Amino acid sequence: MNVRDSEAVAALLDAAGHVRATGEADAELVIVNSCTVRDMAERKAIGKCGNLTAAKEGRGRQTVATNVKIVGLMGCAVKRMGEQVFKVLPDLDFAVGPRRFGLIPHLVERCMKGESHILELPDDDEVPSGLDAHPDTARAGTSSMFQSYVTVLLGCDNRCSYCIVPDVRGHEYSRPAREIIAEVRALAEGGVKEVCLLGQSVLRYGMRNKAWNDDDPPSPGGYMEPFPRLLEGLQSIAGLERIRFTSAHPKGCTEELVRAYRTFPKVCRHLHLPVQSGSDKVLLEMGRHYTRAEYLDAVKRLHDFDPEFSVTSDVIVGYPGETESDFEQTRSLMEEASFDNAFVFKYSPRPGTRSALLPDDVPTAEKERRNQVLLADQEIRGQRRNERLVGSVRKVLVEGASIRNPRRWSGRDSGNRIVVFEPIGRILPGDIVDVRITDAHPQTLIGKIENT
Ligand code: 5AD
Ligand code: SF4
Repeated sequence: MNVRDSEAVAALLDAAGHVRATGEADAELVIVNSCTVRDMAERKAIGKCGNLTAAKEGRGRQTVATNVKIVGLMGCAVKRMGEQVFKVLPDLDFAVGPRRFGLIPHLVERCMKGESHILELPDDDEVPSGLDAHPDTARAGTSSMFQSYVTVLLGCDNRCSYCIVPDVRGHEYSRPAREIIAEVRALAEGGVKEVCLLGQSVLRYGMRNKAWNDDDPPSPGGYMEPFPRLLEGLQSIAGLERIRFTSAHPKGCTEELVRAYRTFPKVCRHLHLPVQSGSDKVLLEMGRHYTRAEYLDAVKRLHDFDPEFSVTSDVIVGYPGETESDFEQTRSLMEEASFDNAFVFKYSPRPGTRSALLPDDVPTAEKERRNQVLLADQEIRGQRRNERLVGSVRKVLVEGASIRNPRRWSGRDSGNRIVVFEPIGRILPGDIVDVRITDAHPQTLIGKIENT
């Protein structure tokens, strides 16, 4: 979500007549986009911002930003810190919370006239501005010419015990379906082949606020739930080849969603479905509103529909009171769910959340051990899952030269798996090619382009 917000800000600054720097070294304006979901993420953003403000005052040693004149901070750490942000970063020029980043060009203007310490904090119910993914953003921004993020749902109303997101990103707000469809159509006309729809709990799209009038729906209405209807509306857009979305709360992984996967071929067969824990006791304390068995049922629905369906997840280790036996339940759930990939996070208390009132009683070394155990398991599982695909032909959206070996190219299959291959013929980024898999690694597939 932050990548998308950063792109939107870059596009707004382009439109306001600013010119992109080639990097930190020649930038006069630098805006750091922060995340406060975990303690470490916030520290990194604030640390970076501190180096930049020091450089601006001519005190910087560890930074290359020698021309910087204005430093801004955006994102959810600003909302958490409020006025305090200028105590921590006294030389910061402006700070703007989520949902108000549309104001940034205006704030930069004010700073150029000599103002500083401008703070913009959004209300929890604020309707945001500056979200549109202009076709030009995709072209000039951090994402590629043929893939684009599209924000569909802001904020979150789930209130999981450990999570600061509802406090800093506000209440759920679903953007109007018509606006989203028009935006994706414009992106597709500009050459975008794949969109990724973004929301903290994206399957709750259209649940809190209605995203369309009943006399003007986005699609014919074969579906009851708003999110599958949005997918239905997007499926018919010419030129668009793939639709992804993230992140999903397991409660939203319904029969209807699976029916949408079955019906709409453009919807990719991958779901990021954070489970957080495999222990019913911990899930209850976290306020996740599902049991281990319900979660595994949701995954089974996806795998029954397509055994190659890729399910990835987030897991927290070291939640307050997590015993060895709770941890082992998480471990076995990950195996039962056959995750294709998983992110493991060590619990960190976030100010103002319910779990921050509980003792953070799992020692750091034990959190680290649990983290390593789960990562090692996942390596083996990833390898095993990927080996099943050796010999199969995957449709791969070509992204470009592989990071590790520029003589090879890489792309992704529908399941979001990275596929590496030798480029042949006149293949270009953005093409969709058939790749026969010859070899498997825990997080990548290796293959050869099929001559078609
Ligand atoms: N501590 C550790 N991990 C957290 N996450 C959210 N809050 C915390 C926290 N306080 C993780 C969850 C979520 C991911 C984005 O970050 O796993 O899915
Ligand atoms: Fe946080 Fe996700 Fe829970 Fe919302 S659903 S409170 S973003 S963990």
